[in-house]
Amino acid sequence: MDKIVIKGGERLQGEVRVSGSKNAALPLLASSILADGESRIRNIPPLNDIKTMLALLKSIGLNVAYKNEAVKISGKAHTFEAPYELVKTMRASALVLGPLLAKYGSARVSMPGGCAIGERPIDLHLKALKAMGAEIELKHGYVIAGAKRLKGATIYFDIITVTGTENIMMAATLAKGKTVIENAAREPEVVELARALKAMGAKIDGEGSDVITIEGVNELGPLDYQVMPDRIEAGTLMAAAAATKGNVLIKNCDLPFMEALISKMKAAGIVIREEEGGLRVIGKRRLKSVDIKTLPHPGFPTDMQAQMMVLMSIASGLSVISETVFENRFMHVSELRRMGADIHTEGRSAIIKGKEKLSGAQVMATDLRASASLIIAGLVAEGTTEVSRIYHLDRGYDGLERKLAALGANIERVKEKRISK
Ligand code: UD1
Repeated sequence: MDKIVIKGGERLQGEVRVSGSKNAALPLLASSILADGESRIRNIPPLNDIKTMLALLKSIGLNVAYKNEAVKISGKAHTFEAPYELVKTMRASALVLGPLLAKYGSARVSMPGGCAIGERPIDLHLKALKAMGAEIELKHGYVIAGAKRLKGATIYFDIITVTGTENIMMAATLAKGKTVIENAAREPEVVELARALKAMGAKIDGEGSDVITIEGVNELGPLDYQVMPDRIEAGTLMAAAAATKGNVLIKNCDLPFMEALISKMKAAGIVIREEEGGLRVIGKRRLKSVDIKTLPHPGFPTDMQAQMMVLMSIASGLSVISETVFENRFMHVSELRRMGADIHTEGRSAIIKGKEKLSGAQVMATDLRASASLIIAGLVAEGTTEVSRIYHLDRGYDGLERKLAALGANIERVKEKRISK
């Protein structure tokens, strides 16, 4: 297995380009199931989660050709199953449920199990599909769903769910009649999916607000689309630049979607300004502590919580970070403590007392964003940090260590040696 080895203390400088958005690409790929003809989607980063989704589309019978960050998808599905082997490596595989059911009237999708950051059930996806007339059974660890043709319905989500909103939006495009999703997710990736579906011929209104209306149509054409930049990768690079008191131009970011993050970073004393082609981030002096509460969009994104915690660990003063989206998303805390961070958790809140310095240590990545946070901590820590279990990182970051090295970080990927017992 690989690990990342970082020698801390280098200031990041230069320019870096943000890759395509993982969380926007995944539903767009799933939506190709709904299309007749050949779909072409560009700016698809070569991540493990993307490869999982492409493998899933292939396994149901679609023709998939992926080259130079562009994919062509055509053909018809002949099996309607998302098997355990794929779903267990990526929960977002459940995104094929709505499209398969809408297009082929049948889907068999392995139930996602628990996850490092919380239970993450898909009960709300299933409840909504039932309201649209699907018969749903849970058997042998699988969701088995069938419907002659889904019917439009009014769906109220008790909790705001991103992939739930996306699944139902896709299902509703080919349903009979009108579907109204209330308390819908307003994430930019949901808006991106709605735009793409509209380009395929879907009738959707209200995306970006908490009520989305979809009028079902009989068929959809192929998709030809360029995926938006990844706002979480952009935020992670911004945090890395600021932590190292660097000066970096982050190219290819979608600023309107990053307001909550940018305003918190500015409040912490990070200089951020728009420049031609991107966002300049300058970490001038020691950061100030700010309190953060994660919320669904347009609130502060939970996917940036771990990275901000590193910034607060080296800021002056005391800060409180509250995680309201997931129930167990503080797995990085104990690893950051091993690097000298002073963090105390109390339920879903973490109280962080900023320290002048962190110290390099051997640490373990526990989930995708936690791994990015440990890398940022390694960039500023004294001495050497080794981050193991980086398969989490490879699920969602396109060569993060390569991009950081190009900005001047002393970072490399090495093969982990096994100690024989
Ligand atoms: C998506 C993102 C993930 C991000 C998260 C929150 C993708 C592929 N992943 O995940 O990066 O961290 O949004 O912004 O886009 N819930 C239920 N029942 C359900 C569905 C959700 O209880 O049926 C709960 C979850 O356990 C969680 C909350 O709702 O506590 C929000 O989860 P959700 O928005 O669904 O996250 P994902 O769509 O899985």
